[in-house]
Amino acid sequence: MDKLRVRGGKPLEGTVRISGAKNAALPVMAATLLTPGVHRLRNVPRLRDTHTFARVLERLGAKVAFDANLLTIDTQGVNSVEAPYELVKTMRASIYVLGPLLARFGEAKVSLPGGCAWGPRPVNLHLTGLQAMGAALEIEHGYIVGRDAKLKGATIDFEVVSVGATAQLMMAAVLAEGTTVLENVALEPDVTVLGEVLVACGARIEGLGSRRLTIRGVSSLRPIDTAIIPDRIEAATFAAAAAMTGGTIRLENVVPDHFEAALGKLEESGCVIRRAADAVTVSGPARPRPVSVVTHPFPGFPTDMQAQMIAVCAIGEGTSVIEDTIYLDRFTHVPELARMGARIELKGNVAVVKGVDRLAGAQVMATDLRASASLVIAALAARGETLVDRIYHLDRGYESLEQKLAALGAEIERIH
Ligand code: UD1
Repeated sequence: MDKLRVRGGKPLEGTVRISGAKNAALPVMAATLLTPGVHRLRNVPRLRDTHTFARVLERLGAKVAFDANLLTIDTQGVNSVEAPYELVKTMRASIYVLGPLLARFGEAKVSLPGGCAWGPRPVNLHLTGLQAMGAALEIEHGYIVGRDAKLKGATIDFEVVSVGATAQLMMAAVLAEGTTVLENVALEPDVTVLGEVLVACGARIEGLGSRRLTIRGVSSLRPIDTAIIPDRIEAATFAAAAAMTGGTIRLENVVPDHFEAALGKLEESGCVIRRAADAVTVSGPARPRPVSVVTHPFPGFPTDMQAQMIAVCAIGEGTSVIEDTIYLDRFTHVPELARMGARIELKGNVAVVKGVDRLAGAQVMATDLRASASLVIAALAARGETLVDRIYHLDRGYESLEQKLAALGAEIERIH
């Protein structure tokens, strides 16, 4: 299993080009199932998750080809509606094929994703929403099975704001008969952009960017030709690395508004931030000031930056309080950061972080994608050497992470 060896203590300096967003690419990849044709997705990050999704599409009969970051998906030959357990269990987002398959074929057989390292993560909103649209779904031997579905418009009011359920129902509704109204939808850029991509293909969606979407079903769509938006979480993670190491990093190919909540908190912690149209420069302070952070759906502070922010606060000049309201037990990084000398007390879903002068290198273990990122940026700021084990989690979501960090002056290497 690969490890990362990091020798910390150097400020990171330079420019980094941010990749396409994993969480924007995956639903657009699923949406290619809505229409038989040859779809072109540019700026797709080469990650374990995008490759896993490509394999899911191939299992359904699509032809998928990567050429650098251009992904071509030919869905003309799709001849199966089954997304198997062995793929879905490695990536929850595989559930995104459910809505498009039901919409196009009236049938689907998709493995239930199951739990993950940070809690049960249900898909009830996906299922009840599709059922409200007329799909009779059964759970059979661990699979969600839909047969003879003829999707019809419905009004669905989400009790919780969900990125996945919003994208899922949006994809189902664009080809359904009649009008669907989705209330209390997610406003994450990944969702809004999916809507814009579908509109560019002929879908009729009103209200994008607001909490209510009105979707009038159409009988067919044109193939997708689009560029995936920059990854706001990758960008914010590099910004946190500048904050932790006291360096200056220019982030290129970003949409600053997409990670403003994280930039605002880093500014509060003492970073100097310069925003341009598609670039942001972040200069870290000598030592971060304490902050209080509560995660919320977009445009709030993202749960996907909670772990990295705890790492920043771990070397803060005082006590920070960080609460995750989206995933209440997403804190597997806390005991690992403690191994590096961080002083963090966990009270339910609230981390009280008492800043220390310096962290010290240690052997630590990555437990999920963003937890891994927090350990890496902590290692970059720590005295001495850190070995981060199980970095396959990082490969799920960060394109060329160690190359990008090395280009900023980090001493980092992958050990096979
Ligand atoms: C997406 C992101 C993930 C991010 C999360 C929250 C992708 C591929 N993943 O995950 O990186 O951390 O948004 O920003 O885009 N919920 C239910 N029932 C459901 C669905 C969700 O109760 O059917 C709850 C969840 O438990 C959670 C909240 O809704 O508390 C938000 O989850 P959701 O936005 O759906 O997360 P994902 O789409 O799975």
